[in-house]
Amino acid sequence: MIKHYKNFLTKQELKDLEIYFDHCFFKQKIARADPMVKGSISIYSDLVAQYFMCIKKPLVEKVFKSKLIPTYSFSRVYFKDNVMKRHSDRPSCEVSVSLNIWSDTQWPLWFETEKGDVPMYTKPGEAVFYEGQKYNHWREPFEGESCFQIFMHYIRAEGENRDRAYDGMENIKYPKLIMKPWLK
Ligand SMILES: [Fe+2]
Repeated sequence: MIKHYKNFLTKQELKDLEIYFDHCFFKQKIARADPMVKGSISIYSDLVAQYFMCIKKPLVEKVFKSKLIPTYSFSRVYFKDNVMKRHSDRPSCEVSVSLNIWSDTQWPLWFETEKGDVPMYTKPGEAVFYEGQKYNHWREPFEGESCFQIFMHYIRAEGENRDRAYDGMENIKYPKLIMKPWLK
């Protein structure tokens, strides 16, 4: 399934995430260079992103009609000319959400489907739901100045990737503790 989801965030949630991540990326500068997208910066499993991955899980479950377990989140800022090469995702990303927080230019996420290549456009606060193992996906060179997306990844609770809960990091206690209320 590939689906555009319009009202993923409330206006207040969007505003709060803009302020928080602007602080993380550009004031505190806690992000790292991201080898998957040359020139971009990212944060693996930021706790606020983890929290949103958890509280939005029921909404994603409803669309996919499956019980899900969160695995990890990934927060990435792309800059001018950054490219995400065509790829499929690893097993921890059975069901994913690409959430647009800001972008100064319309910039589609492309999917390779049986019906041809399909571009998915989102505005800030909107998301694309997709199965990244099933569909190759990519982004063409970015023509704007800055685009920030949060990726939230899940596995099907009864599926073949169920050993990828917590992205396979069973020893990491803190993410497990904060996710606990949403794992039922
Ligand atoms: Fe991907």
